[in-house]
Amino acid sequence: MVRKLPQDRLTVALPKGRLFDQVISIFSSVGILDKPVRQDTRKLVIQTDRFNFLLVRAKDVPTYVEYGVADMGVAGDDLILEMKPDVYIPVDLGVGVCTIMVAGLPEDKDKYFSNPTSLRVATKYPNITRDFFGKKGVKVQVIELYGSIELAPLVGLADFIVDIVETGRTLKENGLVVIEQIRPSSAKLIVNRASYKTKNESIMPIIQKLENKLVKG
Ligand code: PRP
Repeated sequence: MVRKLPQDRLTVALPKGRLFDQVISIFSSVGILDKPVRQDTRKLVIQTDRFNFLLVRAKDVPTYVEYGVADMGVAGDDLILEMKPDVYIPVDLGVGVCTIMVAGLPEDKDKYFSNPTSLRVATKYPNITRDFFGKKGVKVQVIELYGSIELAPLVGLADFIVDIVETGRTLKENGLVVIEQIRPSSAKLIVNRASYKTKNESIMPIIQKLENKLVKG
């Protein structure tokens, strides 16, 4: 059992879920990861000669990195914007590209654009939602859900949703449409601020390898 991770190597928090395979592929191609890792393993810590890898829920990556349990990790802009972790963000990995959107039923589009004073919005991004509508001067009742957000307008739980859209398939298959774009999102390397200073000699080559990979493709 791991009580404390070996401190002679860097600890990296990997996000389980939609980003996982793309992150593994990038990390393998630059030599950070030298053995196959599958996200369906029940193992939560994977150790190699040079790294400790933590397999965590995508939403928990910023927490592990901000608290310094992990020196670095990967998180989408959606989660960074939502959680506002105090971390250093040196590299856009260019994967997990999606857009944070307001979506809803097509027949509700007019209601949205008719200067409503308040809206019910279901989302897993309550802070992004409050910030976005706050800037527009629209009062929102945020209904926080943890998944299958698209169901909420279909069953009358909310008028609209704020969620990420990647291929648009989930919206389409549920008869929803994009109402307004909030901002694009992609996966970023995030680094603990203290680690960036104290372990700079180990961290900089990784950042450089990732940057080179992005330039060369
Ligand atoms: C995300 C997001 C949408 C869907 C969008 O959910 O919340 O539901 O993917 O992708 P698409 O545009 O390619 O259809 P995720 O798959 O992470 O699962 P969740 O609903 O359990 O959060």
